[in-house]
Amino acid sequence: MQVVHTIAALREQLAPFRRPAFVATMGNLHEGHMALVRRARPLGDVTVASVFVNRLQFLPHEDFDSYPRTLEADAAQLAAAGCDLLFAPGERELYPEPQTFKVLPDPALADLLEGAFRPGFFTGVCTVVMKLFQCVQPRVALFGKKDYQQLMVIRHMVRQFALPIEIVAQETERAGDGLALSSRNGYLSPQQRAEAVELSRALTRMAQRLRAGDAASIVEDDAMAHLRQRGWQPDYMAVRGRTGLQPPAPGEPLVVLGAARLGDTRLIDNLEV
Ligand code: PAF
Repeated sequence: MQVVHTIAALREQLAPFRRPAFVATMGNLHEGHMALVRRARPLGDVTVASVFVNRLQFLPHEDFDSYPRTLEADAAQLAAAGCDLLFAPGERELYPEPQTFKVLPDPALADLLEGAFRPGFFTGVCTVVMKLFQCVQPRVALFGKKDYQQLMVIRHMVRQFALPIEIVAQETERAGDGLALSSRNGYLSPQQRAEAVELSRALTRMAQRLRAGDAASIVEDDAMAHLRQRGWQPDYMAVRGRTGLQPPAPGEPLVVLGAARLGDTRLIDNLEV
């Protein structure tokens, strides 16, 4: 696997290829990222991953400075998973001047759920993803369903800008007990790690109750109360329509999404019903 740190070197390496398959990451990679890379391989003629911790998608009080930067270990994992090219730009390479042009996502999709609790988050995500797309010029890009709203926002962006990129969604990878894999799981103490699975259990119960015909608002309230009772601080436990992430319309396919803080660590997860 080649590792490049500049846009010029990336473009030179990619020149012979017609169909790059791309996985964007912020590093500190785990099995969820490797599943994306393995899925990417047969979809393109070269598999490209990026590692870049994107300042624009962190609020001032969030964990940008402490976000784990583990490039050497990330590169070893990517190489083992069959990635051909790793783009790992420094901040000055991707943002040589303040990024004053930004991609503003549709507030109807981006200002709810995660966007309501992390204002500007999806502007930061869209801006960096658009920039990475310009650098890599992929024909296919893969994103995990773990960040369900991010996947929907990026799909919307690609559609509205008519980008010639197929967006492929990958199922969430989970630990044996059901906890969704996430770089932020590394912040959890052993005790918190044992409790953390309760988020996916709560979502599973929500899905079961919806299938049994219970009303969405009651299912949401009960899940919030359950997590609070166990010492979590939930931001939302929401029942939404799958595509627009709006409150459900009759007959629409549903997804349940949750975000909750356990101690200082904020975890998100979701489940299609
Ligand atoms: O999902 C992530 O890791 C990030 O939001 C992404 C897509 C790499 C943009 O920084």
